[in-house]
Amino acid sequence: MAPTATIAQTVPVATLKATSLPDAPFGATIQMPEGVTDPSKLSDADFKVLFKALHENLVIVIPGQKELSPESQHLLTKRFDPTTEGNYGHSREFRHEKSVLKKDGKSVPRVPQVQILGQGTFQDHEGLDEVSLTHPIHDTFHKEILSQSKQDAGYTKFYRWHIDSALYGLSPPVCTTLLGIHVPNAANERQKILYEDSNEEIEIAQGATCFMSGARAFELLSEEDKKQALGTTVVYAPHPYIYISEAKATWDGISMHSEGKELSFDDLPEWETEKIKRLPLVWTNPVTGKHHLQAHGCCVWKLERENGEVLELEQARKELRRVLRPAISPKEILAFSWEAGDLVIFYNRGVLHSVTGHFAEGQKRLMHQCNIASGQDPICKV
Ligand SMILES: [Fe+2]
Repeated sequence: MAPTATIAQTVPVATLKATSLPDAPFGATIQMPEGVTDPSKLSDADFKVLFKALHENLVIVIPGQKELSPESQHLLTKRFDPTTEGNYGHSREFRHEKSVLKKDGKSVPRVPQVQILGQGTFQDHEGLDEVSLTHPIHDTFHKEILSQSKQDAGYTKFYRWHIDSALYGLSPPVCTTLLGIHVPNAANERQKILYEDSNEEIEIAQGATCFMSGARAFELLSEEDKKQALGTTVVYAPHPYIYISEAKATWDGISMHSEGKELSFDDLPEWETEKIKRLPLVWTNPVTGKHHLQAHGCCVWKLERENGEVLELEQARKELRRVLRPAISPKEILAFSWEAGDLVIFYNRGVLHSVTGHFAEGQKRLMHQCNIASGQDPICKV
């Protein structure tokens, strides 16, 4: 007679399920299979579903992950990219005293690939007696700063639309995982962004992380622009975050004002020509086959067209703003409102994202972020 266990094994176990986020142009919530709490421990079959869901939905959210350890977060992030060696997506220069990324967090001592981000001071966290965090605010990066009365009235800006990547030496990470451990109880705290060119306004949750779809950015181009984009290469400056350290961002957070404030290449830390990143403007999604317009408009140095034409710094920045701007329009973006325990995984090769907002005195936020430099650059399949 067969043991009872055999009968139990024949009962199908619910698999992982993705459900589109309500009232959002893209993104999905993931329901984990029964009995699995740690997503780094998903079976190969379930992980395949998660991998596909990420590439199709671009941003996926696994709720209830407040206790996820940095070790598991690192393992999960690495699992999305079999080509990776497992090192953080930025090299050590990102903490260089002049880098615009310097203040954005601290590393978890035992898992340095995981960064601690947020706002306020936390005691006894992941082996650190005390960690003081500063939420990036547009005041420190933009040229035009909102007046205090505007800020008091709830206005904010897109801090910086970007891809998580060193853009020098290393290849862009496939995905980023972002875990909200402690977030202000701000469901009713709303902030507003004014689009200065169209006078449109969007209302978002305080501290929302905003995403734009690179696939949508490509779709919104004219047929002529699509053709041109498919043959365009984006060249990034060496140590780009140090190169732009004195320059200021445009109101939309897509790029920088060109006022000759960039550091001279002679004043940058040592650099090598072979490490300068030359990436296609269009990256092809390996699962959907869709083309994504993917460029970091703040770090760009030049654009090279297929016909040999070169757009130097100022023109390159203007061109990236022109082609990316339609995809950050109010109806196109996902403004993700955080709840404690949300683990957001975004397809870093298929979206651009931006921090928004500011916090009031005493409000605190704690997050863990991980992304891993890939073993290979993204490609454009024409
Ligand atoms: Fe980021």
